[in-house]
Amino acid sequence: MDAFVIRGGTPLHGSIRINGAKNAALPLMAAALLTDQPITLRDVPNLVDIRNMSALLAELGCSCQRDESARQSLNLDPSDSRQSAPLLLRTTVESASHARYDIVRTMRASVCVLGPLLARRGVARVAMPGGCAIGDRPIDLHLKGLAALGAAVELDSGDIVLTAPANKAGGRRLRGARIFLGGRFGSTALGTANVMSAATLAEGETLIEGAACEPEIVDLAALLTQMGAQIQGAGTPRIVIQGVDSLAGADHTIVPDRIEAGTFMIAAALTQGEVTLSNCPLDSMMAVTETLRQAGVEVTPTNRDDPTRATCAVRLASDLRPTQITTQPHPGFPTDLQAQLMALMCLARGNSVLTERIFPQRFLHVAELTRLGARLVREGSTVIVSGVDQLVGAPVMASDLRASASLVLAALAAKGETVLRRVYHLDRGYEKMEQALAALGADIRRTPENQGIAFSALAHVGDYMPQSKSPQPPSSVGAPVT
Ligand code: EPZ
Repeated sequence: MDAFVIRGGTPLHGSIRINGAKNAALPLMAAALLTDQPITLRDVPNLVDIRNMSALLAELGCSCQRDESARQSLNLDPSDSRQSAPLLLRTTVESASHARYDIVRTMRASVCVLGPLLARRGVARVAMPGGCAIGDRPIDLHLKGLAALGAAVELDSGDIVLTAPANKAGGRRLRGARIFLGGRFGSTALGTANVMSAATLAEGETLIEGAACEPEIVDLAALLTQMGAQIQGAGTPRIVIQGVDSLAGADHTIVPDRIEAGTFMIAAALTQGEVTLSNCPLDSMMAVTETLRQAGVEVTPTNRDDPTRATCAVRLASDLRPTQITTQPHPGFPTDLQAQLMALMCLARGNSVLTERIFPQRFLHVAELTRLGARLVREGSTVIVSGVDQLVGAPVMASDLRASASLVLAALAAKGETVLRRVYHLDRGYEKMEQALAALGADIRRTPENQGIAFSALAHVGDYMPQSKSPQPPSSVGAPVT
């Protein structure tokens, strides 16, 4: 297991190209199960989750290979490991339909093979995903949607087993339906992906109401349409799919990662540097850039030819101001940037209020940020962040993907050294994050945990307590998070 050793205080400068989106790549890779024709996906990042999905698809008869030979013809810069070779997917064996627990427990997103498997093979057996660090993550809406398409649903030894209804041709085929897919916390991204993918091969028309509007869903619909599916309304809460008998191959470049882009924007602001992001999906980040502007962060498009792949310069234009956000489904403020924004607000002049509406328990970063000297008061699914004038390095522990990113950001701004352990959480969603940050001037390095990392900052912690920049929140709000 690796750790990051980070010395804070260096303003980031330079430019970075935003990678393709992990949360688009996963359901798009699963869509390769809907056909036996070749699928080429471009700009798929080299991440642990992508490798997990490739391993799962291989078990289901779909090979996933990187086409390194294409690097030259695509003028991919060999020195820029962030420019990945195209991913070639091809389903050749369609006998297996079991996504085993051993793989599913490493990555919840494995659930997005459910719909494609069921639609194409008539049966799907997927291990029920277990617990998750960010809170409850049921799949009841996925099952509700697929059952509405006619699937029989059973639970067998921890596996969900779905079977499509028999059809006149002696095979099994789903049938179109009208489905309301909204849940207690709003729409479901992977639930929409599963039901929309399955409906492409169903008999007749399907209407999904309360569908997720995430850009990753729009991207999945774009790939499926290129494969021959008939889909209207992706990106809106109402999607209509006309089922077809079969789907073809496709060659598709996935959308840039708006969460990675937001993370690097906050890194630039937190370190009071200036960073240029290219391949940045500004068009799907309006809630994020609006919030950052309110906080005093300038996001200036320098090339808007294609706002879905823009170039923009990001810098802190004034003192950091407090903000108030509530996470929501797209186009609202994304839950996957809540932790990173909290790190930024730790240094704002005043009190910020962050409310988490999608995963109300998603606050494992709070205690670790407090170890870095942040002043945080949590009350249920709301945290009040009282800005301090300085964070201080300390040993901290990564817990989940975005919480870990917020700790890296805070450490970049902190005085002294931070050691962040269990960075495998980060590798799931950020490609070689330490190299990307070091290329922007950060003092960060990856080191194996068992290298007996001497933690020099410890010597300082005793004699430095950060002074608050903000009036203390009234004690009635509840005890500070420890
Ligand atoms: C996707 O997860 C993302 N993961 C998550 O990103 C992201 O946080 C989430 O969408 C919300 O934006 C991938 O795309 C791989 P949901 P997903 O179903 O689809 C409830 C990251 O950091 N719900 O939209 O699994 C659920 O509990 C990850 O990259 C039900 O109640 O999330 C949550 O409260 C973390 N029943 C809400 O809906 C269901 O059947 C939204 O979840 C499904 C979901």
